[in-house]
Amino acid sequence: MEKEQFTSRFGVIMATAAGAVGLGNIWKFPYMLGQNGGAAFLVVYIACVLLFGLPLMITEIVIGKRSGQSVRGAYQVLIGNRRWNGIPILTCLTVTLIIGVYLVITGWCVKYLLMSIVGPLPTLNGWTDVLCNAFAVLCSVAVVWLGVTKGIERLSKIFMPILLLIIVILLVRVMLLPGAKEGLSFLFSFDADKISFDVILSALGQCFYSLSIGMGALITYGSYIPKKQNVVTTACGIVAVDTLVAVMSACVIMPAVFVYGFSPEQGPKLVFSVLPVVFEQMPGGHVMVLLFFALLCIAAITSIVSLFEVLTASLVDVTAHRERRPLTRHQALVYVAVVCLAISGFCTFSMTGESDWLVWRGKTLFDGLDVLTSSFMLPMVALSTVIFFGWFVDKQVMIEEMKPHYGTKPWAIQGYYFLIRWCFPILILLIGLNSIGII
Ligand code: PHE
Repeated sequence: MEKEQFTSRFGVIMATAAGAVGLGNIWKFPYMLGQNGGAAFLVVYIACVLLFGLPLMITEIVIGKRSGQSVRGAYQVLIGNRRWNGIPILTCLTVTLIIGVYLVITGWCVKYLLMSIVGPLPTLNGWTDVLCNAFAVLCSVAVVWLGVTKGIERLSKIFMPILLLIIVILLVRVMLLPGAKEGLSFLFSFDADKISFDVILSALGQCFYSLSIGMGALITYGSYIPKKQNVVTTACGIVAVDTLVAVMSACVIMPAVFVYGFSPEQGPKLVFSVLPVVFEQMPGGHVMVLLFFALLCIAAITSIVSLFEVLTASLVDVTAHRERRPLTRHQALVYVAVVCLAISGFCTFSMTGESDWLVWRGKTLFDGLDVLTSSFMLPMVALSTVIFFGWFVDKQVMIEEMKPHYGTKPWAIQGYYFLIRWCFPILILLIGLNSIGII
Protein backbone atom coordinates (compact mmCIF):
# COMPACT_ATOMS: atom_id res chain seq x y z
CA MET A 1 0.00 0.00 0.00
CA GLU A 2 1.27 3.48 -0.91
CA LYS A 3 2.25 5.43 2.22
CA GLU A 4 -0.01 8.37 2.99
CA GLN A 5 1.51 11.84 2.72
CA PHE A 6 0.66 15.37 3.64
CA THR A 7 -0.63 17.23 0.63
CA SER A 8 0.64 20.80 0.93
CA ARG A 9 3.24 22.89 2.70
CA PHE A 10 0.51 24.68 4.64
CA GLY A 11 -0.84 21.29 5.68
CA VAL A 12 2.60 20.11 6.87
CA ILE A 13 3.18 23.25 8.90
CA MET A 14 -0.29 23.21 10.45
CA ALA A 15 -0.15 19.49 11.30
CA THR A 16 3.34 19.64 12.80
CA ALA A 17 2.70 22.92 14.58
CA ALA A 18 -0.52 21.45 16.00
CA GLY A 19 1.60 18.63 17.43
CA ALA A 20 4.21 21.00 18.81
CA VAL A 21 1.84 23.59 20.24
CA GLY A 22 0.56 22.03 23.40
CA LEU A 23 0.32 22.46 27.12
CA GLY A 24 4.03 23.24 27.00
CA ASN A 25 3.23 26.53 25.30
CA ILE A 26 0.09 27.59 27.09
CA TRP A 27 0.43 26.07 30.53
CA LYS A 28 4.17 25.68 31.11
CA PHE A 29 5.80 28.56 29.23
CA PRO A 30 3.90 31.37 31.00
CA TYR A 31 4.62 30.05 34.47
CA MET A 32 8.26 29.39 33.66
CA LEU A 33 8.49 32.94 32.40
CA GLY A 34 6.91 34.11 35.65
CA GLN A 35 9.36 32.12 37.77
CA ASN A 36 12.49 32.94 35.78
CA GLY A 37 12.47 36.70 35.51
CA GLY A 38 10.14 37.60 32.63
CA ALA A 39 11.89 39.28 29.72
CA ALA A 40 15.31 37.84 30.59
CA PHE A 41 13.89 34.35 30.18
CA LEU A 42 12.11 35.32 27.01
CA VAL A 43 15.30 36.58 25.37
CA VAL A 44 17.27 33.48 26.35
CA TYR A 45 14.40 31.28 25.21
CA ILE A 46 14.25 32.84 21.76
CA ALA A 47 18.03 32.56 21.41
CA CYS A 48 17.83 28.85 22.35
CA VAL A 49 15.05 28.26 19.85
CA LEU A 50 17.00 29.81 17.00
CA LEU A 51 20.41 28.41 17.85
CA PHE A 52 19.51 24.94 19.03
CA GLY A 53 15.80 24.21 18.59
CA LEU A 54 15.66 24.95 14.89
CA PRO A 55 18.72 22.89 13.81
CA LEU A 56 17.55 19.95 15.94
CA MET A 57 14.09 20.17 14.48
CA ILE A 58 15.57 20.17 10.98
CA THR A 59 17.66 17.11 11.89
CA GLU A 60 14.69 15.12 13.11
CA ILE A 61 12.52 16.06 10.15
CA VAL A 62 15.33 15.07 7.76
CA ILE A 63 15.67 11.69 9.50
CA GLY A 64 11.97 11.06 8.87
CA LYS A 65 11.82 12.52 5.39
CA ARG A 66 14.92 10.79 4.01
CA SER A 67 14.06 7.41 5.45
CA GLY A 68 10.33 7.68 4.74
CA GLN A 69 9.81 5.50 7.80
CA SER A 70 8.21 5.55 11.22
CA VAL A 71 10.54 5.96 14.21
CA ARG A 72 10.88 2.19 14.30
CA GLY A 73 12.35 1.92 10.81
CA ALA A 74 13.97 5.32 10.32
CA TYR A 75 17.27 4.73 12.11
CA GLN A 76 17.76 1.34 10.54
CA VAL A 77 17.08 2.54 7.01
CA LEU A 78 19.44 5.52 7.23
CA ILE A 79 22.37 3.47 8.40
CA GLY A 80 21.70 0.09 6.83
CA ASN A 81 22.01 -1.97 9.99
CA ARG A 82 20.10 -2.64 13.18
CA ARG A 83 22.71 -1.45 15.65
CA TRP A 84 20.80 1.69 16.59
CA ASN A 85 17.44 0.02 17.12
CA GLY A 86 17.68 0.77 20.82
CA ILE A 87 16.75 4.39 20.09
CA PRO A 88 13.35 3.60 18.57
CA ILE A 89 12.55 1.29 21.47
CA LEU A 90 13.54 3.94 24.01
CA THR A 91 11.60 6.60 22.08
CA CYS A 92 8.42 4.56 22.03
CA LEU A 93 8.70 3.72 25.71
CA THR A 94 9.34 7.35 26.58
CA VAL A 95 6.47 8.57 24.45
CA THR A 96 4.04 6.07 26.00
CA LEU A 97 4.91 7.27 29.50
CA ILE A 98 4.82 10.93 28.45
CA ILE A 99 1.31 10.53 27.09
CA GLY A 100 0.26 8.84 30.33
CA VAL A 101 1.44 11.85 32.33
CA TYR A 102 0.22 14.41 29.80
CA LEU A 103 -3.24 12.88 29.70
CA VAL A 104 -3.68 13.65 33.38
CA ILE A 105 -3.27 17.36 32.77
CA THR A 106 -5.30 17.17 29.57
CA GLY A 107 -8.03 15.50 31.65
CA TRP A 108 -8.03 18.49 34.00
CA CYS A 109 -8.42 20.81 31.02
CA VAL A 110 -11.37 18.76 29.78
CA LYS A 111 -12.85 18.82 33.29
CA TYR A 112 -12.55 22.60 33.60
CA LEU A 113 -14.00 23.03 30.13
CA LEU A 114 -16.99 20.85 31.00
CA MET A 115 -17.45 22.68 34.28
CA SER A 116 -17.49 25.99 32.47
CA ILE A 117 -20.27 24.66 30.28
CA VAL A 118 -22.45 22.57 32.60
CA GLY A 119 -21.42 23.76 36.07
CA PRO A 120 -20.04 21.50 38.84
CA LEU A 121 -19.51 17.87 37.87
CA PRO A 122 -20.54 14.94 40.06
CA THR A 123 -17.54 13.81 42.09
CA LEU A 124 -16.74 10.16 41.73
CA ASN A 125 -13.34 10.46 43.40
CA GLY A 126 -10.63 9.78 40.83
CA TRP A 127 -13.11 8.38 38.34
CA THR A 128 -14.38 11.78 37.22
CA ASP A 129 -10.83 12.62 36.23
CA VAL A 130 -10.28 9.27 34.54
CA LEU A 131 -13.44 9.75 32.50
CA CYS A 132 -12.12 13.14 31.40
CA ASN A 133 -8.83 11.48 30.41
CA ALA A 134 -10.83 8.92 28.46
CA PHE A 135 -12.69 11.70 26.66
CA ALA A 136 -9.36 13.21 25.56
CA VAL A 137 -8.18 9.78 24.39
CA LEU A 138 -11.35 9.26 22.36
CA CYS A 139 -10.98 12.60 20.60
CA SER A 140 -7.35 11.87 19.77
CA VAL A 141 -8.14 8.35 18.57
CA ALA A 142 -10.85 9.73 16.30
CA VAL A 143 -8.37 12.01 14.55
CA VAL A 144 -5.64 9.39 14.09
CA TRP A 145 -8.27 6.84 13.02
CA LEU A 146 -9.16 8.97 9.99
CA GLY A 147 -5.58 8.76 8.75
CA VAL A 148 -2.72 11.12 7.96
CA THR A 149 -4.35 13.21 5.25
CA LYS A 150 -8.03 13.03 6.10
CA GLY A 151 -7.54 13.05 9.85
CA ILE A 152 -4.35 14.71 11.04
CA GLU A 153 -3.75 17.15 8.19
CA ARG A 154 -7.34 18.13 7.52
CA LEU A 155 -8.31 18.61 11.15
CA SER A 156 -5.10 20.50 11.97
CA LYS A 157 -5.89 22.90 9.16
CA ILE A 158 -9.20 23.59 10.90
CA PHE A 159 -8.15 23.55 14.54
CA MET A 160 -4.88 25.48 14.39
CA PRO A 161 -6.56 28.60 12.97
CA ILE A 162 -9.33 28.24 15.60
CA LEU A 163 -6.67 28.00 18.29
CA LEU A 164 -4.94 31.13 17.00
CA LEU A 165 -8.26 32.96 16.82
CA ILE A 166 -9.10 32.09 20.42
CA ILE A 167 -5.73 33.37 21.61
CA VAL A 168 -6.19 36.61 19.72
CA ILE A 169 -9.67 37.10 21.24
CA LEU A 170 -8.31 36.45 24.74
CA LEU A 171 -5.37 38.75 24.11
CA VAL A 172 -7.55 41.64 22.97
CA ARG A 173 -9.85 41.19 25.97
CA VAL A 174 -6.97 41.18 28.44
CA MET A 175 -5.28 44.17 26.82
CA LEU A 176 -8.46 46.19 27.32
CA LEU A 177 -8.30 45.71 31.09
CA PRO A 178 -7.19 48.76 33.01
CA GLY A 179 -3.75 47.97 34.44
CA ALA A 180 -2.81 45.41 31.79
CA LYS A 181 0.29 47.48 31.08
CA GLU A 182 1.96 46.51 34.34
CA GLY A 183 1.77 42.87 33.41
CA LEU A 184 3.23 43.61 30.04
CA SER A 185 6.01 45.68 31.49
CA PHE A 186 6.90 42.73 33.73
CA LEU A 187 7.09 40.61 30.61
CA PHE A 188 9.02 43.02 28.50
CA SER A 189 11.31 44.94 30.83
CA PHE A 190 14.65 43.34 30.34
CA ASP A 191 17.06 42.94 33.23
CA ALA A 192 20.28 41.25 32.16
CA ASP A 193 21.19 40.42 35.80
CA LYS A 194 18.39 37.90 35.89
CA ILE A 195 20.11 35.70 33.30
CA SER A 196 21.82 32.93 35.21
CA PHE A 197 23.08 29.48 34.33
CA ASP A 198 19.88 28.05 35.77
CA VAL A 199 17.71 30.31 33.63
CA ILE A 200 19.62 29.30 30.52
CA LEU A 201 19.25 25.60 31.22
CA SER A 202 15.55 25.89 32.02
CA ALA A 203 15.02 27.86 28.82
CA LEU A 204 16.83 25.18 26.85
CA GLY A 205 14.83 22.38 28.41
CA GLN A 206 11.60 24.25 27.76
CA CYS A 207 12.65 24.92 24.15
CA PHE A 208 13.16 21.21 23.50
CA TYR A 209 9.90 20.28 25.20
CA SER A 210 7.90 22.91 23.41
CA LEU A 211 9.22 21.97 19.99
CA SER A 212 8.62 18.26 20.74
CA ILE A 213 12.28 17.41 20.25
CA GLY A 214 13.25 13.82 21.11
CA MET A 215 9.67 12.57 21.00
CA GLY A 216 9.73 11.03 17.55
CA ALA A 217 6.84 13.22 16.38
CA LEU A 218 9.06 15.25 14.05
CA ILE A 219 10.55 12.08 12.57
CA THR A 220 7.12 10.52 12.03
CA TYR A 221 5.54 13.62 10.54
CA GLY A 222 8.75 14.19 8.57
CA SER A 223 8.17 10.87 6.84
CA TYR A 224 4.86 12.21 5.51
CA ILE A 225 6.41 15.32 3.95
CA PRO A 226 6.43 15.34 0.14
CA LYS A 227 9.95 14.80 -1.22
CA LYS A 228 10.24 18.17 -2.98
CA GLN A 229 9.44 20.26 0.05
CA ASN A 230 12.08 22.48 1.65
CA VAL A 231 12.70 21.30 5.21
CA VAL A 232 14.31 24.52 6.41
CA THR A 233 11.42 26.82 5.53
CA THR A 234 8.96 24.26 6.88
CA ALA A 235 10.84 24.06 10.18
CA CYS A 236 10.98 27.87 10.37
CA GLY A 237 7.21 28.01 9.94
CA ILE A 238 6.64 25.49 12.72
CA VAL A 239 9.05 27.23 15.08
CA ALA A 240 7.43 30.61 14.35
CA VAL A 241 3.92 29.35 15.13
CA ASP A 242 5.08 27.53 18.26
CA THR A 243 6.95 30.52 19.66
CA LEU A 244 4.19 32.95 18.75
CA VAL A 245 1.61 30.89 20.63
CA ALA A 246 3.88 30.65 23.68
CA VAL A 247 4.53 34.39 23.77
CA MET A 248 0.88 35.25 23.15
CA SER A 249 -0.21 32.92 25.95
CA ALA A 250 2.18 34.65 28.30
CA CYS A 251 0.75 38.00 27.18
CA VAL A 252 -2.74 36.77 28.05
CA ILE A 253 -1.92 35.17 31.36
CA MET A 254 0.59 37.53 33.00
CA PRO A 255 -1.32 40.80 32.64
CA ALA A 256 -4.56 39.10 33.77
CA VAL A 257 -2.76 37.74 36.83
CA PHE A 258 -1.25 41.16 37.63
CA VAL A 259 -4.47 43.12 37.25
CA TYR A 260 -6.20 40.99 39.88
CA GLY A 261 -3.29 41.06 42.27
CA PHE A 262 -2.01 37.48 42.07
CA SER A 263 1.67 36.62 42.03
CA PRO A 264 3.13 35.58 38.66
CA GLU A 265 5.33 33.04 40.42
CA GLN A 266 2.66 30.48 41.17
CA GLY A 267 4.23 27.63 39.23
CA PRO A 268 2.26 24.76 37.71
CA LYS A 269 -0.97 25.69 39.52
CA LEU A 270 -1.16 29.05 37.79
CA VAL A 271 -3.44 28.05 34.97
CA PHE A 272 -5.85 25.91 36.97
CA SER A 273 -6.23 27.65 40.29
CA VAL A 274 -5.58 31.28 39.46
CA LEU A 275 -6.88 31.85 35.96
CA PRO A 276 -10.51 30.73 36.41
CA VAL A 277 -10.71 33.09 39.40
CA VAL A 278 -9.04 35.88 37.48
CA PHE A 279 -11.20 35.50 34.39
CA GLU A 280 -14.46 35.21 36.35
CA GLN A 281 -13.76 38.62 37.85
CA MET A 282 -13.70 40.45 34.56
CA PRO A 283 -16.77 41.42 32.58
CA GLY A 284 -17.61 38.65 30.14
CA GLY A 285 -15.39 36.39 32.26
CA HIS A 286 -17.47 33.28 31.88
CA VAL A 287 -16.96 33.23 28.15
CA MET A 288 -13.25 33.86 28.73
CA VAL A 289 -12.96 30.80 30.98
CA LEU A 290 -14.76 28.70 28.40
CA LEU A 291 -12.60 29.92 25.55
CA PHE A 292 -9.43 29.52 27.56
CA PHE A 293 -10.08 25.90 28.46
CA ALA A 294 -11.25 25.16 24.93
CA LEU A 295 -7.89 26.53 23.83
CA LEU A 296 -6.02 24.28 26.26
CA CYS A 297 -8.04 21.23 25.20
CA ILE A 298 -7.42 21.78 21.49
CA ALA A 299 -3.71 22.34 22.06
CA ALA A 300 -3.36 19.29 24.30
CA ILE A 301 -5.40 16.91 22.17
CA THR A 302 -3.60 17.78 18.92
CA SER A 303 -0.30 17.11 20.73
CA ILE A 304 -1.52 13.74 21.94
CA VAL A 305 -2.56 13.00 18.36
CA SER A 306 1.03 13.51 17.21
CA LEU A 307 2.37 11.07 19.80
CA PHE A 308 -0.39 8.52 19.12
CA GLU A 309 0.71 8.67 15.49
CA VAL A 310 4.33 8.00 16.51
CA LEU A 311 3.33 4.87 18.41
CA THR A 312 0.73 3.65 15.94
CA ALA A 313 2.99 3.96 12.90
CA SER A 314 5.84 2.21 14.74
CA LEU A 315 3.64 -0.59 16.03
CA VAL A 316 2.30 -1.23 12.54
CA ASP A 317 5.88 -1.42 11.23
CA VAL A 318 7.03 -3.75 14.00
CA THR A 319 4.35 -6.25 13.15
CA ALA A 320 4.50 -5.75 9.37
CA HIS A 321 6.96 -8.58 8.79
CA ARG A 322 5.84 -11.14 11.29
CA GLU A 323 4.38 -14.39 10.17
CA ARG A 324 1.12 -14.04 12.00
CA ARG A 325 -1.22 -11.46 10.60
CA PRO A 326 0.30 -7.97 10.88
CA LEU A 327 -1.64 -5.37 12.84
CA THR A 328 -3.73 -2.90 10.87
CA ARG A 329 -3.42 0.77 11.65
CA HIS A 330 -6.73 0.79 13.48
CA GLN A 331 -5.88 -2.22 15.62
CA ALA A 332 -2.51 -0.74 16.52
CA LEU A 333 -4.16 2.54 17.44
CA VAL A 334 -6.59 0.82 19.79
CA TYR A 335 -3.75 -0.99 21.60
CA VAL A 336 -1.82 2.24 21.94
CA ALA A 337 -4.83 4.15 23.26
CA VAL A 338 -5.73 1.49 25.82
CA VAL A 339 -2.20 1.28 27.22
CA CYS A 340 -1.83 5.07 27.46
CA LEU A 341 -5.22 5.46 29.09
CA ALA A 342 -4.34 2.79 31.63
CA ILE A 343 -1.10 4.57 32.56
CA SER A 344 -2.90 7.88 32.88
CA GLY A 345 -5.50 6.19 35.09
CA PHE A 346 -2.80 4.95 37.47
CA CYS A 347 -1.23 8.42 37.48
CA THR A 348 -4.57 10.00 38.29
CA PHE A 349 -5.28 7.61 41.14
CA SER A 350 -1.80 8.14 42.52
CA MET A 351 -2.82 11.74 43.13
CA THR A 352 -6.27 11.34 44.65
CA GLY A 353 -4.86 10.10 47.94
CA GLU A 354 -6.84 6.84 47.96
CA SER A 355 -4.31 4.53 46.38
CA ASP A 356 -1.32 4.38 48.73
CA TRP A 357 0.47 1.76 46.68
CA LEU A 358 0.91 4.28 43.88
CA VAL A 359 2.79 6.65 46.15
CA TRP A 360 6.36 6.02 47.15
CA ARG A 361 8.16 8.10 49.77
CA GLY A 362 5.71 10.95 49.33
CA LYS A 363 6.14 11.00 45.57
CA THR A 364 3.19 10.00 43.43
CA LEU A 365 3.46 7.85 40.33
CA PHE A 366 2.58 10.97 38.36
CA ASP A 367 5.56 12.91 39.78
CA GLY A 368 7.84 9.93 39.33
CA LEU A 369 6.98 9.37 35.68
CA ASP A 370 7.16 13.09 34.96
CA VAL A 371 10.70 13.33 36.31
CA LEU A 372 11.74 10.03 34.74
CA THR A 373 10.59 11.05 31.27
CA SER A 374 11.57 14.70 31.17
CA SER A 375 14.84 14.48 33.08
CA PHE A 376 16.22 11.13 31.97
CA MET A 377 14.49 9.55 29.05
CA LEU A 378 13.89 12.55 26.76
CA PRO A 379 17.48 13.83 27.08
CA MET A 380 18.71 10.26 26.44
CA VAL A 381 16.68 9.98 23.22
CA ALA A 382 17.77 13.43 22.05
CA LEU A 383 21.42 12.75 22.89
CA SER A 384 21.54 9.42 21.13
CA THR A 385 19.76 10.87 18.10
CA VAL A 386 22.28 13.69 17.65
CA ILE A 387 25.20 11.31 18.11
CA PHE A 388 23.62 8.95 15.60
CA PHE A 389 23.03 11.63 12.99
CA GLY A 390 26.19 13.64 13.64
CA TRP A 391 28.70 10.81 13.77
CA PHE A 392 27.23 7.79 12.05
CA VAL A 393 24.92 8.86 9.25
CA ASP A 394 26.57 9.75 5.96
CA LYS A 395 26.90 13.54 5.58
CA GLN A 396 25.59 13.13 2.06
CA VAL A 397 22.09 12.66 3.49
CA MET A 398 21.97 16.23 4.79
CA ILE A 399 23.82 17.63 1.79
CA GLU A 400 21.40 16.05 -0.67
CA GLU A 401 18.45 17.32 1.29
CA MET A 402 19.74 20.90 1.20
CA LYS A 403 21.22 20.95 -2.32
CA PRO A 404 18.08 21.61 -4.41
CA HIS A 405 17.24 24.62 -2.27
CA TYR A 406 20.54 26.12 -1.18
CA GLY A 407 23.26 24.44 -3.25
CA THR A 408 26.19 22.99 -1.31
CA LYS A 409 27.51 25.70 0.96
CA PRO A 410 30.52 24.17 2.74
CA TRP A 411 30.49 26.69 5.61
CA ALA A 412 26.85 26.01 6.36
CA ILE A 413 27.37 22.26 6.36
CA GLN A 414 30.49 22.54 8.50
CA GLY A 415 28.76 24.88 10.92
CA TYR A 416 25.84 22.50 11.18
CA TYR A 417 28.08 19.51 11.84
CA PHE A 418 30.09 21.42 14.44
CA LEU A 419 26.85 22.10 16.30
CA ILE A 420 25.51 18.63 16.01
CA ARG A 421 28.72 16.74 16.75
CA TRP A 422 30.07 18.80 19.61
CA CYS A 423 27.76 21.48 20.95
CA PHE A 424 24.48 19.60 21.11
CA PRO A 425 25.70 16.48 22.88
CA ILE A 426 27.34 18.61 25.56
CA LEU A 427 24.30 20.83 25.92
CA ILE A 428 21.84 17.97 26.15
CA LEU A 429 24.02 16.33 28.75
CA LEU A 430 24.03 19.58 30.73
CA ILE A 431 20.25 19.86 30.56
CA GLY A 432 19.90 16.27 31.71
CA LEU A 433 22.33 16.71 34.60
CA ASN A 434 20.70 19.99 35.55
CA SER A 435 17.24 18.52 35.68
CA ILE A 436 18.42 15.69 37.90
CA GLY A 437 19.92 18.32 40.16
CA ILE A 438 23.59 17.34 39.74
CA ILE A 439 24.65 20.73 38.40
N1 PHE B 1 5.47 20.22 22.36
C1 PHE B 1 4.47 19.58 23.14
C2 PHE B 1 3.92 20.60 24.11
O1 PHE B 1 4.42 21.69 24.14
C3 PHE B 1 5.11 18.44 23.81
C4 PHE B 1 4.24 17.28 23.97
C5 PHE B 1 3.50 16.77 22.95
C6 PHE B 1 4.18 16.68 25.18
C7 PHE B 1 2.69 15.70 23.15
C8 PHE B 1 3.38 15.61 25.38
C9 PHE B 1 2.61 15.14 24.36
O2 PHE B 1 2.99 20.38 24.85
